[in-house]
Amino acid sequence: MPSLSSSTLAIPAAGDVPRHVAIIMDGNGRWATRRHLPRVAGHARGVETVRAMVEGCSQAGVEYLTLFAFSSENWRRPADEVSYLMGLFLRVMEREVSRLERRGVRLRVVGDTSAFEPKLRESIRKAEARTAGNDHLHLTIAANYGGRWDILNAFHQLLRARPELAADPESITEEDMAPYLAMAYAPEPDLFIRTGGEQRISNFMIWQLAYTELYFTDRFWPDFDREALAEAFTWYRQRERRFGRTSAQLAAAAAAAAQRG
Ligand code: IPE
Ligand code: IPE
Ligand code: MG
Repeated sequence: MPSLSSSTLAIPAAGDVPRHVAIIMDGNGRWATRRHLPRVAGHARGVETVRAMVEGCSQAGVEYLTLFAFSSENWRRPADEVSYLMGLFLRVMEREVSRLERRGVRLRVVGDTSAFEPKLRESIRKAEARTAGNDHLHLTIAANYGGRWDILNAFHQLLRARPELAADPESITEEDMAPYLAMAYAPEPDLFIRTGGEQRISNFMIWQLAYTELYFTDRFWPDFDREALAEAFTWYRQRERRFGRTSAQLAAAAAAAAQRG
């Protein structure tokens, strides 16, 4: 598997449009509660925002969109909310796949899906297979995902594949681990967005977010629209992505590039 460049080992190219956008879709419950609706009504409405983000990112030229749909900690919620979310996930998988297929979107689900009902696992498998030939936008849904699970799982798989490493742990490098992470097929996220007002990572892609630009908005997920996405992109364009270097070094590199034409 080709190892994609790591932001802590090499300096990735940074363009105006983020190649990879990773989003924590938060605030569904509060959106609903403010409207005197049951929390789950917010989850249902949130699906419309997902559709809008797929379209918006695809049109803007984003290559990878990753959405956090259910964390490994969300099992702690009341059983009826968890069960509603699982049902919604199943309905969305079955209903949306032809739309994704038409739009050239490749869908993948990352996380420990072994905890899901067989019916849901099967519909995930089918949706992934049906869109496997697409590459216009790589859409990843993180479900029963946790950043620590991802790192540990990668580590377990690495040692299973190369047991001789256990005798020489210091020889293990970042690049040895990277191919076993759940999203080894994607570059690290350039832009992270969290809606709903909280400023935390909540065990999302903790390895891959090392050098990601972090954008937080108070807007609840069902209210996040394409205009709000455009605002996040504008904010992103104004960041100076230094990856450890100084501003003067960046300016010198830009001047040298301009001189080369
Ligand atoms: C995010 O919205 C959706 C999931 C975690 C599944 P929340 O349900 O966390 O909404 P709030 O944060 O309670 O408003
Ligand atoms: C994070 O949202 C997980 C998802 C959006 C799927 P939460 O609403 O569960 O996060 P915390 O627990 O409040 O940090
Ligand atoms: Mg929340």
